[in-house]
Amino acid sequence: MSNHTLFIKNANQVITLHGNSTKPLKKKEMNELHIIEGGSILIIDDRIAAIGNETDLVEKYKNEIEEAEVIDAEGKIVLPGLVDPHTHLVFAGSREEEFNMRLNGATYMEIMNNGGGIHATTSKTREASPDELLKESKKRLDSFLMHGVTTVEAKSGYGLDWETEEKQLRVAKQLNEEHLVDVVSTFMGAHAVPAAYKNNPDEFVDLVINEMLPKVAGEKLAEFNDVFCERGVFTPEQSRRILKAGKELGLIPKIHADEIEPYEGAELAAEVGAISADHLLRASDEGIKRMAENNVIGVLLPGTAFFLMAESAKGRRMIDMGMSIALSTDCNPGSSPTTSLPLMMNLACMHMGLTPAEAIAAATINAAHAINRGHEIGSIEVDKKADITIMDVSNYMKLQYHYGVNHTDTVIKNGHIVVK
Ligand code: NIG
Ligand code: FE
Repeated sequence: MSNHTLFIKNANQVITLHGNSTKPLKKKEMNELHIIEGGSILIIDDRIAAIGNETDLVEKYKNEIEEAEVIDAEGKIVLPGLVDPHTHLVFAGSREEEFNMRLNGATYMEIMNNGGGIHATTSKTREASPDELLKESKKRLDSFLMHGVTTVEAKSGYGLDWETEEKQLRVAKQLNEEHLVDVVSTFMGAHAVPAAYKNNPDEFVDLVINEMLPKVAGEKLAEFNDVFCERGVFTPEQSRRILKAGKELGLIPKIHADEIEPYEGAELAAEVGAISADHLLRASDEGIKRMAENNVIGVLLPGTAFFLMAESAKGRRMIDMGMSIALSTDCNPGSSPTTSLPLMMNLACMHMGLTPAEAIAAATINAAHAINRGHEIGSIEVDKKADITIMDVSNYMKLQYHYGVNHTDTVIKNGHIVVK
Protein backbone atom coordinates (compact mmCIF):
# COMPACT_ATOMS: atom_id res chain seq x y z
CA MET A 1 0.00 0.00 0.00
CA SER A 2 1.36 3.42 -0.89
CA ASN A 3 1.93 6.03 1.77
CA HIS A 4 -0.43 8.89 2.43
CA THR A 5 1.40 12.15 1.80
CA LEU A 6 0.37 15.69 2.56
CA PHE A 7 2.26 18.80 1.55
CA ILE A 8 1.64 22.13 3.29
CA LYS A 9 3.21 24.99 1.34
CA ASN A 10 3.49 28.73 1.26
CA ALA A 11 2.63 29.41 4.90
CA ASN A 12 3.29 32.96 6.03
CA GLN A 13 4.86 31.54 9.16
CA VAL A 14 5.55 27.98 10.23
CA ILE A 15 5.92 28.13 14.00
CA THR A 16 8.13 25.10 14.58
CA LEU A 17 9.29 25.46 18.21
CA HIS A 18 12.05 23.28 16.92
CA GLY A 19 14.59 21.57 19.15
CA ASN A 20 12.69 21.43 22.39
CA SER A 21 11.65 17.83 22.68
CA THR A 22 13.73 16.87 25.68
CA LYS A 23 12.75 19.49 28.22
CA PRO A 24 10.17 22.25 28.65
CA LEU A 25 11.09 25.82 27.75
CA LYS A 26 12.12 28.35 30.35
CA LYS A 27 12.73 32.10 30.39
CA LYS A 28 13.93 33.50 27.04
CA GLU A 29 13.47 30.17 25.30
CA MET A 30 9.71 30.64 25.58
CA ASN A 31 10.01 33.56 23.17
CA GLU A 32 12.01 31.61 20.60
CA LEU A 33 9.43 30.07 18.31
CA HIS A 34 11.87 29.10 15.55
CA ILE A 35 9.69 30.47 12.78
CA ILE A 36 10.18 29.66 9.11
CA GLU A 37 8.76 32.45 6.95
CA GLY A 38 7.17 31.08 3.80
CA GLY A 39 7.71 27.55 5.08
CA SER A 40 6.54 24.17 3.85
CA ILE A 41 6.03 20.80 5.54
CA LEU A 42 5.96 17.32 4.07
CA ILE A 43 3.94 14.74 5.98
CA ILE A 44 4.18 11.04 5.24
CA ASP A 45 1.53 8.90 6.91
CA ASP A 46 1.21 10.09 10.50
CA ARG A 47 4.68 11.67 10.77
CA ILE A 48 6.36 14.92 9.87
CA ALA A 49 8.90 13.92 7.21
CA ALA A 50 10.52 17.23 6.25
CA ILE A 51 10.33 20.96 6.98
CA GLY A 52 11.87 23.83 5.03
CA ASN A 53 11.29 26.05 2.05
CA GLU A 54 9.26 24.80 -0.88
CA THR A 55 12.05 24.76 -3.50
CA ASP A 56 14.36 22.68 -1.32
CA LEU A 57 11.66 20.23 -0.37
CA VAL A 58 10.42 19.81 -3.96
CA GLU A 59 13.96 19.13 -5.09
CA LYS A 60 14.61 16.58 -2.40
CA TYR A 61 11.21 14.86 -2.25
CA LYS A 62 10.00 15.23 -5.85
CA ASN A 63 8.16 11.90 -6.04
CA GLU A 64 6.49 12.15 -2.66
CA ILE A 65 5.32 15.71 -3.29
CA GLU A 66 3.96 14.87 -6.77
CA GLU A 67 1.69 12.31 -5.14
CA ALA A 68 0.76 14.45 -2.16
CA GLU A 69 -2.46 16.13 -1.22
CA VAL A 70 -1.54 19.85 -1.15
CA ILE A 71 -2.60 22.56 1.28
CA ASP A 72 -1.77 26.10 0.22
CA ALA A 73 -1.36 28.01 3.49
CA GLU A 74 -0.74 31.40 1.90
CA GLY A 75 -1.51 34.22 4.31
CA LYS A 76 -1.85 31.82 7.26
CA ILE A 77 0.25 30.46 10.09
CA VAL A 78 1.03 26.82 10.78
CA LEU A 79 1.38 25.67 14.39
CA PRO A 80 1.86 22.39 16.21
CA GLY A 81 -1.59 21.03 17.12
CA LEU A 82 -2.51 22.77 20.39
CA VAL A 83 -2.29 20.68 23.58
CA ASP A 84 -4.59 21.15 26.58
CA PRO A 85 -2.87 19.65 29.64
CA HIS A 86 -5.66 20.09 32.23
CA THR A 87 -9.34 19.36 31.68
CA HIS A 88 -12.21 17.77 33.58
CA LEU A 89 -13.59 16.53 30.26
CA VAL A 90 -15.85 13.70 31.40
CA PHE A 91 -18.81 14.99 33.40
CA ALA A 92 -22.59 15.27 33.21
CA GLY A 93 -24.77 18.37 33.36
CA SER A 94 -23.91 22.04 33.72
CA ARG A 95 -24.01 24.66 36.47
CA GLU A 96 -25.28 27.93 35.07
CA GLU A 97 -27.46 28.42 38.17
CA GLU A 98 -24.27 28.59 40.28
CA PHE A 99 -22.84 31.09 37.82
CA ASN A 100 -25.88 33.22 38.49
CA MET A 101 -25.46 32.76 42.27
CA ARG A 102 -21.84 33.87 42.03
CA LEU A 103 -22.86 36.93 40.07
CA ASN A 104 -25.18 37.69 42.99
CA GLY A 105 -22.36 37.47 45.51
CA ALA A 106 -21.97 33.82 46.53
CA THR A 107 -18.42 32.45 46.39
CA TYR A 108 -17.22 29.27 44.70
CA MET A 109 -16.23 27.65 48.02
CA GLU A 110 -19.51 28.63 49.74
CA ILE A 111 -21.46 26.95 46.98
CA MET A 112 -19.29 23.84 47.23
CA ASN A 113 -19.53 23.70 51.02
CA ASN A 114 -23.31 23.86 50.74
CA GLY A 115 -23.42 20.73 48.66
CA GLY A 116 -23.21 22.37 45.23
CA GLY A 117 -20.13 22.83 43.07
CA ILE A 118 -18.12 19.66 42.55
CA HIS A 119 -20.75 17.77 44.63
CA ALA A 120 -23.53 18.80 42.24
CA THR A 121 -21.60 17.54 39.22
CA THR A 122 -20.68 14.39 41.15
CA SER A 123 -24.39 13.55 41.66
CA LYS A 124 -25.12 14.08 37.97
CA THR A 125 -22.08 12.07 36.90
CA ARG A 126 -22.96 9.19 39.22
CA GLU A 127 -26.44 9.04 37.68
CA ALA A 128 -25.27 9.22 34.06
CA SER A 129 -24.77 6.09 31.99
CA PRO A 130 -21.41 5.56 30.27
CA ASP A 131 -23.13 6.26 26.95
CA GLU A 132 -24.53 9.56 28.17
CA LEU A 133 -21.10 10.59 29.48
CA LEU A 134 -19.51 9.55 26.23
CA LYS A 135 -21.98 11.58 24.19
CA GLU A 136 -21.60 14.77 26.26
CA SER A 137 -17.82 14.50 26.37
CA LYS A 138 -17.56 13.80 22.64
CA LYS A 139 -19.27 17.11 21.95
CA ARG A 140 -16.66 18.89 24.04
CA LEU A 141 -13.86 17.09 22.23
CA ASP A 142 -15.38 18.10 18.88
CA SER A 143 -15.31 21.69 20.09
CA PHE A 144 -11.67 21.39 21.25
CA LEU A 145 -10.76 20.10 17.80
CA MET A 146 -12.59 22.98 16.11
CA HIS A 147 -10.36 25.31 18.16
CA GLY A 148 -7.19 23.63 16.93
CA VAL A 149 -6.57 21.34 19.92
CA THR A 150 -5.34 17.84 19.03
CA THR A 151 -4.52 16.39 22.48
CA VAL A 152 -6.22 16.89 25.85
CA GLU A 153 -5.59 15.60 29.31
CA ALA A 154 -8.77 14.45 31.11
CA LYS A 155 -9.27 13.98 34.85
CA SER A 156 -11.71 11.83 36.74
CA GLY A 157 -12.94 13.26 40.05
CA TYR A 158 -16.71 13.55 39.66
CA GLY A 159 -17.31 10.12 41.15
CA LEU A 160 -15.62 10.20 44.55
CA ASP A 161 -16.58 6.54 44.70
CA TRP A 162 -14.77 3.79 42.82
CA GLU A 163 -17.68 2.84 40.59
CA THR A 164 -18.03 6.31 39.13
CA GLU A 165 -14.33 7.14 39.04
CA GLU A 166 -13.81 3.95 37.05
CA LYS A 167 -16.73 4.84 34.78
CA GLN A 168 -15.18 8.23 34.01
CA LEU A 169 -11.74 6.75 33.36
CA ARG A 170 -13.17 4.07 31.06
CA VAL A 171 -15.14 6.69 29.14
CA ALA A 172 -11.94 8.75 28.74
CA LYS A 173 -10.20 5.64 27.44
CA GLN A 174 -12.98 4.98 24.96
CA LEU A 175 -12.86 8.60 23.83
CA ASN A 176 -9.15 8.26 23.23
CA GLU A 177 -9.83 5.24 21.03
CA GLU A 178 -12.86 6.58 19.17
CA HIS A 179 -12.29 10.32 18.88
CA LEU A 180 -9.72 12.06 16.67
CA VAL A 181 -8.42 14.06 19.63
CA ASP A 182 -5.97 12.10 21.81
CA VAL A 183 -7.09 11.86 25.43
CA VAL A 184 -4.52 11.34 28.21
CA SER A 185 -5.97 10.26 31.56
CA THR A 186 -5.44 11.47 35.11
CA PHE A 187 -7.03 9.94 38.20
CA MET A 188 -8.39 12.57 40.57
CA GLY A 189 -10.31 10.61 43.18
CA ALA A 190 -9.29 13.29 45.69
CA HIS A 191 -11.20 16.12 43.99
CA ALA A 192 -13.52 16.74 46.96
CA VAL A 193 -14.39 15.06 50.24
CA PRO A 194 -17.68 13.24 49.61
CA ALA A 195 -20.57 14.14 51.93
CA ALA A 196 -20.49 10.72 53.61
CA TYR A 197 -16.92 11.39 54.81
CA LYS A 198 -17.40 15.00 55.83
CA ASN A 199 -16.54 14.30 59.45
CA ASN A 200 -13.70 11.89 58.81
CA PRO A 201 -11.91 12.96 55.64
CA ASP A 202 -8.83 10.90 56.52
CA GLU A 203 -10.92 7.80 56.06
CA PHE A 204 -11.68 8.91 52.51
CA VAL A 205 -7.98 9.57 51.95
CA ASP A 206 -7.31 6.00 53.11
CA LEU A 207 -9.91 4.73 50.68
CA VAL A 208 -8.27 6.60 47.79
CA ILE A 209 -4.86 5.29 48.77
CA ASN A 210 -5.69 1.70 49.68
CA GLU A 211 -8.55 0.87 47.33
CA MET A 212 -8.66 3.22 44.38
CA LEU A 213 -5.04 3.97 43.50
CA PRO A 214 -4.00 0.29 43.28
CA LYS A 215 -6.90 -0.40 40.90
CA VAL A 216 -6.10 2.63 38.73
CA ALA A 217 -2.47 1.57 38.45
CA GLY A 218 -3.22 -2.14 38.16
CA GLU A 219 -5.66 -1.68 35.29
CA LYS A 220 -3.62 1.12 33.71
CA LEU A 221 -6.58 3.47 33.78
CA ALA A 222 -4.48 6.64 34.13
CA GLU A 223 -0.93 7.93 33.88
CA PHE A 224 -1.22 10.77 36.39
CA ASN A 225 -2.58 11.23 39.89
CA ASP A 226 -4.00 14.61 40.89
CA VAL A 227 -5.41 16.09 44.12
CA PHE A 228 -7.27 19.30 45.02
CA CYS A 229 -5.00 20.68 47.74
CA GLU A 230 -7.01 23.58 49.14
CA ARG A 231 -8.17 24.79 52.54
CA GLY A 232 -11.48 23.02 53.22
CA VAL A 233 -10.77 20.30 50.67
CA PHE A 234 -7.52 18.27 51.10
CA THR A 235 -4.73 19.49 53.39
CA PRO A 236 -1.10 19.52 52.23
CA GLU A 237 -0.48 16.52 54.51
CA GLN A 238 -3.36 14.52 53.01
CA SER A 239 -2.31 15.58 49.51
CA ARG A 240 1.26 14.50 50.20
CA ARG A 241 0.10 11.03 51.26
CA ILE A 242 -2.06 10.62 48.16
CA LEU A 243 0.59 11.83 45.71
CA LYS A 244 3.36 9.74 47.26
CA ALA A 245 1.19 6.62 47.30
CA GLY A 246 0.37 7.11 43.62
CA LYS A 247 4.00 7.69 42.76
CA GLU A 248 4.96 4.38 44.34
CA LEU A 249 2.50 2.73 41.99
CA GLY A 250 3.93 4.51 38.96
CA LEU A 251 1.36 7.31 38.72
CA ILE A 252 2.99 10.68 38.04
CA PRO A 253 1.92 13.38 40.52
CA LYS A 254 -0.01 16.49 39.49
CA ILE A 255 -1.67 18.91 41.88
CA HIS A 256 -4.38 21.58 41.99
CA ALA A 257 -2.35 24.02 44.07
CA ASP A 258 -2.95 27.40 45.70
CA GLU A 259 -6.06 28.10 43.65
CA ILE A 260 -8.23 29.96 46.15
CA GLU A 261 -5.85 30.55 49.07
CA PRO A 262 -2.10 30.23 49.57
CA TYR A 263 -1.74 26.74 51.06
CA GLU A 264 1.82 25.63 50.29
CA GLY A 265 0.63 23.55 47.34
CA ALA A 266 3.48 24.85 45.18
CA GLU A 267 6.03 23.83 47.81
CA LEU A 268 4.42 20.38 48.00
CA ALA A 269 4.58 20.01 44.20
CA ALA A 270 8.32 20.64 44.34
CA GLU A 271 8.76 18.25 47.26
CA VAL A 272 6.98 15.29 45.68
CA GLY A 273 8.45 15.88 42.22
CA ALA A 274 5.14 16.65 40.52
CA ILE A 275 5.34 16.95 36.73
CA SER A 276 3.08 20.00 37.03
CA ALA A 277 1.37 22.20 39.58
CA ASP A 278 -1.81 23.72 38.26
CA HIS A 279 -3.76 26.95 39.01
CA LEU A 280 -1.19 28.64 41.35
CA LEU A 281 -3.20 31.87 41.59
CA ARG A 282 -1.98 32.40 45.13
CA ALA A 283 1.36 30.57 45.01
CA SER A 284 4.04 32.12 47.23
CA ASP A 285 7.38 33.40 45.94
CA GLU A 286 9.09 30.65 47.91
CA GLY A 287 6.85 28.10 46.20
CA ILE A 288 7.60 29.58 42.77
CA LYS A 289 11.32 29.42 43.52
CA ARG A 290 11.13 25.80 44.56
CA MET A 291 9.04 24.81 41.55
CA ALA A 292 11.59 26.48 39.26
CA GLU A 293 14.46 24.65 40.98
CA ASN A 294 12.68 21.31 40.77
CA ASN A 295 11.43 21.69 37.20
CA VAL A 296 7.75 21.57 38.10
CA ILE A 297 5.80 22.96 35.14
CA GLY A 298 3.25 25.60 36.10
CA VAL A 299 0.00 24.87 34.27
CA LEU A 300 -1.86 28.17 34.35
CA LEU A 301 -5.59 28.42 33.79
CA PRO A 302 -6.45 32.01 32.96
CA GLY A 303 -10.07 31.13 32.14
CA THR A 304 -10.62 29.97 35.73
CA ALA A 305 -9.43 33.24 37.25
CA PHE A 306 -11.53 35.11 34.68
CA PHE A 307 -14.65 33.06 35.35
CA LEU A 308 -14.23 33.09 39.15
CA MET A 309 -13.51 36.84 38.95
CA ALA A 310 -10.26 36.29 40.84
CA GLU A 311 -6.81 37.71 40.43
CA SER A 312 -4.80 35.74 37.87
CA ALA A 313 -1.68 33.68 38.57
CA LYS A 314 1.53 35.65 38.26
CA GLY A 315 2.64 34.12 34.98
CA ARG A 316 5.15 36.84 34.14
CA ARG A 317 6.79 36.57 37.52
CA MET A 318 6.93 32.78 37.29
CA ILE A 319 8.64 32.87 33.90
CA ASP A 320 11.07 35.52 35.11
CA MET A 321 11.85 33.39 38.16
CA GLY A 322 12.71 30.45 35.92
CA MET A 323 9.58 28.33 35.76
CA SER A 324 8.31 26.59 32.64
CA ILE A 325 4.73 27.65 32.02
CA ALA A 326 1.95 25.83 30.17
CA LEU A 327 -1.61 26.99 29.51
CA SER A 328 -4.91 25.17 29.70
CA THR A 329 -8.67 25.71 29.67
CA ASP A 330 -9.38 23.72 32.87
CA CYS A 331 -12.56 22.83 30.95
CA ASN A 332 -15.11 21.94 33.67
CA PRO A 333 -18.73 22.82 34.49
CA GLY A 334 -17.98 24.99 37.54
CA SER A 335 -14.95 27.22 37.28
CA SER A 336 -14.19 27.27 33.55
CA PRO A 337 -16.82 25.95 31.13
CA THR A 338 -14.87 26.58 27.94
CA THR A 339 -13.06 24.64 25.23
CA SER A 340 -11.28 27.62 23.67
CA LEU A 341 -7.56 27.24 24.31
CA PRO A 342 -6.84 30.17 21.94
CA LEU A 343 -8.94 32.43 24.19
CA MET A 344 -6.81 31.26 27.15
CA MET A 345 -3.75 32.37 25.19
CA ASN A 346 -5.23 35.84 24.85
CA LEU A 347 -6.17 35.98 28.55
CA ALA A 348 -2.64 34.88 29.48
CA CYS A 349 -1.33 37.92 27.61
CA MET A 350 -3.92 40.30 29.05
CA HIS A 351 -4.01 39.11 32.68
CA MET A 352 -0.74 37.27 33.30
CA GLY A 353 1.71 39.35 31.33
CA LEU A 354 2.79 36.66 28.89
CA THR A 355 3.94 37.72 25.44
CA PRO A 356 2.10 36.28 22.41
CA ALA A 357 5.15 34.09 21.71
CA GLU A 358 5.21 32.77 25.29
CA ALA A 359 1.49 32.00 25.10
CA ILE A 360 2.11 29.87 22.01
CA ALA A 361 5.01 27.99 23.61
CA ALA A 362 2.80 27.44 26.68
CA ALA A 363 -0.07 25.93 24.69
CA THR A 364 2.11 23.68 22.55
CA ILE A 365 5.50 22.31 23.57
CA ASN A 366 5.31 23.14 27.29
CA ALA A 367 1.77 21.79 27.45
CA ALA A 368 3.01 18.58 25.81
CA HIS A 369 5.74 18.29 28.43
CA ALA A 370 3.18 18.82 31.20
CA ILE A 371 1.55 15.54 30.14
CA ASN A 372 4.82 13.74 29.42
CA ARG A 373 4.39 13.91 25.63
CA GLY A 374 7.16 16.38 24.76
CA HIS A 375 8.98 13.76 22.69
CA GLU A 376 5.94 13.08 20.51
CA ILE A 377 3.90 16.28 20.03
CA GLY A 378 3.96 20.04 20.71
CA SER A 379 6.47 21.09 18.05
CA ILE A 380 6.90 20.76 14.30
CA GLU A 381 9.96 18.56 14.00
CA VAL A 382 10.94 15.69 11.75
CA ASP A 383 9.64 12.34 13.06
CA LYS A 384 7.16 13.91 15.43
CA LYS A 385 3.50 13.06 15.08
CA ALA A 386 1.84 15.08 12.30
CA ASP A 387 -0.65 16.94 14.51
CA ILE A 388 -0.83 20.41 13.01
CA THR A 389 -3.17 23.39 13.20
CA ILE A 390 -3.41 26.10 10.56
CA MET A 391 -4.77 29.43 11.75
CA ASP A 392 -6.14 32.03 9.36
CA VAL A 393 -4.05 34.94 10.64
CA SER A 394 -1.05 36.44 8.87
CA ASN A 395 1.33 36.25 11.84
CA TYR A 396 1.40 34.68 15.28
CA MET A 397 0.82 37.90 17.23
CA LYS A 398 -2.52 38.35 15.51
CA LEU A 399 -3.72 35.13 17.07
CA GLN A 400 -3.81 36.81 20.49
CA TYR A 401 -4.49 40.31 19.22
CA HIS A 402 -7.63 39.50 17.23
CA TYR A 403 -9.17 37.94 20.29
CA GLY A 404 -12.35 36.03 21.03
CA VAL A 405 -12.56 34.74 17.45
CA ASN A 406 -11.86 31.20 16.35
CA HIS A 407 -9.13 31.50 13.70
CA THR A 408 -8.77 27.73 13.23
CA ASP A 409 -8.69 27.08 9.49
CA THR A 410 -7.46 23.52 9.07
CA VAL A 411 -6.55 20.78 11.55
CA ILE A 412 -4.35 17.84 10.64
CA LYS A 413 -4.44 14.86 12.99
CA ASN A 414 -2.11 11.88 12.57
CA GLY A 415 -1.28 13.20 9.09
CA HIS A 416 -4.87 13.56 7.87
CA ILE A 417 -6.97 16.66 7.36
CA VAL A 418 -9.80 16.43 9.89
CA VAL A 419 -11.06 20.03 10.04
CA LYS A 420 -11.24 22.25 7.00
O1 NIG B 1 -9.81 22.97 38.46
N1 NIG B 1 -10.58 23.31 41.66
C1 NIG B 1 -11.02 22.21 41.53
N2 NIG B 1 -11.48 21.63 40.42
C2 NIG B 1 -11.88 22.29 39.23
C3 NIG B 1 -13.28 22.79 39.29
C4 NIG B 1 -14.23 21.70 39.36
C5 NIG B 1 -15.67 22.12 39.42
O2 NIG B 1 -16.02 23.21 39.92
O3 NIG B 1 -16.49 21.31 38.97
C6 NIG B 1 -10.87 23.36 38.88
O4 NIG B 1 -11.15 24.56 38.97
FE1 FE C 1 -8.96 21.67 37.34
